Amino acid sequence: MIIAVDGPVAAGKGTLARRLAAALDYAYLDTGSIYRAVAAKILAAGGDAENPETATAAARALEPIDLERDDLRLETVSQAASKVAAIPSVRAALLDFQRDFADRPPGRRNGAVLDGRDIGTVVCPEANVKFFLTASVEARAARRHKELIERGEESIYARVLQDLRERDARDSGRATAPLRAAEDAVRLDTSSMDADQAFAVAMAEIARRRD
Ligand code: DC
Repeated sequence: MIIAVDGPVAAGKGTLARRLAAALDYAYLDTGSIYRAVAAKILAAGGDAENPETATAAARALEPIDLERDDLRLETVSQAASKVAAIPSVRAALLDFQRDFADRPPGRRNGAVLDGRDIGTVVCPEANVKFFLTASVEARAARRHKELIERGEESIYARVLQDLRERDARDSGRATAPLRAAEDAVRLDTSSMDADQAFAVAMAEIARRRD
C-alpha cells in the first residue's frame, strides 16, 4: 500500500503523513528532507545551489545519514532546497531512492507514506491513495510563523508570508515535476481544519479504499 501526500509549504502534509504512517504502522518518508539535505551539503561546502553540476553531484552522492542533519530546517536551507529541486538532473538522481522506499518499505512494513510535491504525479503515480493538501497562503504563513516562534526562533509574519510566496512560485512554476494535484488525488483544504480533522478525513478515505 502506497499513500501519497502532496501539497505546498506548510499545508500540514508532514503532520498528516506522519500520523497516518504511525496509525497504519507504515514507513514514512519526508521527501522534502532529501532536497533539503542536498541543499544543506552544498551550502556547508560553500557551493552554489543553483549550479546544475554542483547540485547534481551532491544529489548523486547523497546518503541516508544525510537526512539526519540538524540544519535541514534552516530558512537558508529551505530556500536553497527549492532551487536545487528545480534542476531536472537533481530530481532524476533522487527518483530511485524514493521509489525503492515506496516499493520496499524499510522494516518490512506493509506500506509506505511519502509526502512531497510530486509523489502522486511522478514518484508514485500508482499510489493506492493520493491526498493533495491545500490552504490559503495566509493560513500557511500564520501556521509556519507560530511554529517558528514556538521553536524559539525569531520570526516576522510578513517575511514568512513573502518567503512562502517565493517558494510556492518556484515549486509550482518549474518545468520539471511542478507542484500540482494528480487527477485522482483527494483534495483536502486545511485552511480551517485542525490536524485531528484532517487525519480523520484521511483515515476514512483510506478505510473506504481498502474495503
Ligand atoms: O516540503 P519541504 O518544504 O521540506 O520541501 C523542501 C523543498 O523541496 C521545497 O521547496 C520543494 C522541494 N520538494 C520537491 O520539489 N519535491 C518533493 N517531492 C519534495 C520537496
